Amino acid sequence: MSSLKIGIIGVGHVGAHVLYTLALQGLGDDFVIADLEENLPKARAERQDVLDSTEFLSHPVRVEVGQIEDLGDRDIIVNAVGNIAMLKGTHTRLTEMEFNVRAVASYAERLKKSGFKGILINISNPCDVITKWLNDLLELPKGHVFGTGTGLDTARLKIRLQQQTGIDAKSISAYMIGEHGNEQISAWSAVNFNGIPLSVKAQQDPRFRFDLNEMEKSAREGGWTTFNGKFCTEYAIALTAARLVDIVSNDKHSIVPVSCELDGQYGESGLFAGVPAVIGRNGVEEVIELSLTGEEKERFHQCCEGIRANIAESKKIFAAL
Ligand code: 2OP
Repeated sequence: MSSLKIGIIGVGHVGAHVLYTLALQGLGDDFVIADLEENLPKARAERQDVLDSTEFLSHPVRVEVGQIEDLGDRDIIVNAVGNIAMLKGTHTRLTEMEFNVRAVASYAERLKKSGFKGILINISNPCDVITKWLNDLLELPKGHVFGTGTGLDTARLKIRLQQQTGIDAKSISAYMIGEHGNEQISAWSAVNFNGIPLSVKAQQDPRFRFDLNEMEKSAREGGWTTFNGKFCTEYAIALTAARLVDIVSNDKHSIVPVSCELDGQYGESGLFAGVPAVIGRNGVEEVIELSLTGEEKERFHQCCEGIRANIAESKKIFAAL
């Protein structure tokens, strides 16, 4: 079996859980984890903890702590830098923007010079903005850089739909789209239960008649429910990234929500936003355009305007470096 080389940048709550999740699932057997200088003691501790875990696993796992320059041969890199504690009391992922723009700016050129040619999956927030910076700075082939985007928000929506309707989340097709942030929306017209639209089910069964705005709010704000109790979110976002690693490494051509570049789709361009896309070995292979209603299109457009405003703010941070 050929080795799958994974790099993780940022080994805080999220990066460490990405490492552990991938190691447990046997997704990747050769890891290099890198972080900012001040975080290296924690990175070394995470390495040791995972290596000690391998005694209980049925597959070999190698983990090294490295520099950005050591990531050149990686097949897939997961970017998970951040300072999530900054979000305490703000309830907006934009609070992390300055920290993460600075972090990415500090290593993008080094990563480019390392010769890295693989797929980069970004988690760092604000996800849509940071994914665009990584895409623009690394100049990898189109589709090689994408973000977890509304992948976790979509999972939150599906779990809540499962709780409401009693139908297994895996039999539900649904998407949160737009910003991985407070402006995201649910594409209600696309929600279906193994092919049966929500609107049809709602006529047949009272469990499928519920307050759409409340359900959307609950999915959008689900992260804060978790954050308020433990001041981070980690398990579900690590699994969101792990699923993307699985899809890329096994060239699955799965349709999943990611933060990807819009190039005319949905009438938008010049930004990254969360929409469904076909993902395979080369990253984003096709952006899927849902048939949104007029109102959903307008809400999605407003959301994209918000992402554009955030990109404009991030450019000021970058220019002042
Ligand atoms: C989440 O949604 C905070 O972006 C992180 O869990």
